[in-house]
Amino acid sequence: MPSSTASPPAISFENVKKTYRGGQVKALNGVSFDIPCGEFFGLLGPNGAGKTTLISVLAGLAKATEGRVRVMGHDVVNDYAAARKALGVVPQELVFDPFFSVRESLRIQSGYFGVKHNDDWIDELLANLGLADKANANMRQLSGGMKRRVLVAQALVHRPPVIVLDEPTAGVDVELRQTLWQFIARLNKEGHTVLLTTHYLEEAEALCQRIGMLKGGRLVALDRTSQLLAGTAHTMLRFKTDVALPAEIAARARVTGRIVQVTAHDAAEVETTLATLRAAGVPVEDLEIGRADLEDVFLNIMQGDAA
Ligand SMILES: Nc1ncnc2c1ncn2[C@@H]1O[C@H](COP(=O)(O)OP(=O)(O)O)[C@@H](O)[C@H]1O
Ligand SMILES: [Mg+2]
Repeated sequence: MPSSTASPPAISFENVKKTYRGGQVKALNGVSFDIPCGEFFGLLGPNGAGKTTLISVLAGLAKATEGRVRVMGHDVVNDYAAARKALGVVPQELVFDPFFSVRESLRIQSGYFGVKHNDDWIDELLANLGLADKANANMRQLSGGMKRRVLVAQALVHRPPVIVLDEPTAGVDVELRQTLWQFIARLNKEGHTVLLTTHYLEEAEALCQRIGMLKGGRLVALDRTSQLLAGTAHTMLRFKTDVALPAEIAARARVTGRIVQVTAHDAAEVETTLATLRAAGVPVEDLEIGRADLEDVFLNIMQGDAA
């Protein structure tokens, strides 16, 4: 069979189910998809969608109720050590040992994975994550943003082929976001596979080749980022008005107070929309015409229009 010579995907989820409280909470409801080696993949979804649960199952921190997960071909249950070693996971919650310095904690983490004489790579990680001057600082002296940088360094200390980041930029400053994405994008170019969960759609749009969307423990969308964007109206009109919209526009508008957002597929549709508003005597203030982004795609899917 020709497929037998192909290398396995970096990550493979096969009908993954996870229930809590004796089946009362269905956190994952049969999730299946693969992430090929070298891909930058974005997993999006609202709070409670199951993103962290999926990553916990992947990292062997939680056991799937049903289904199968493999990392670089290694089953995360039957072949745990090999699967875990292939992964670098940056957790959503800040967890750290307050008694060690930054460098000590990275050396300990190296030892945990059996990597010796790792100081050259540790220095490179510290430099690339803007931590060089914090190497000897105690973990408990660091700010939240600095701790998050250390968590990223810890995840990468054994040079894992697959990097998993669970909302790494939630509540962090712009500088860290830029530092982090520069470095992660470089590692991806060098061949590392990246799985990222985020709330920031513009981040996913800028970085990810493919995007999966979770809702209520199910995968409701999975496509190339460009395809997801192409599948929706491209243009977004935003304006303010105090006057009621004509029915045909109200039906496809998102209204927040005085602010109206209407999508259009092309320039001609922009013109007819504006002409309809003028004919109906609706005054249009502060008009902006921009590109619809992943947030619009996401809202459509989450509202059930496209699911
Ligand atoms: N340890 C747990 N015990 C019970 N319910 C849980 C536990 N962990 C997560 N859940 C529930 O599973 C669902 C998915 O949560 P989670 O994976 O954290 O979502 P996300 O990361 O997308 O916000 C939620 O309804 C959450 O309350
Ligand atoms: Mg989460």
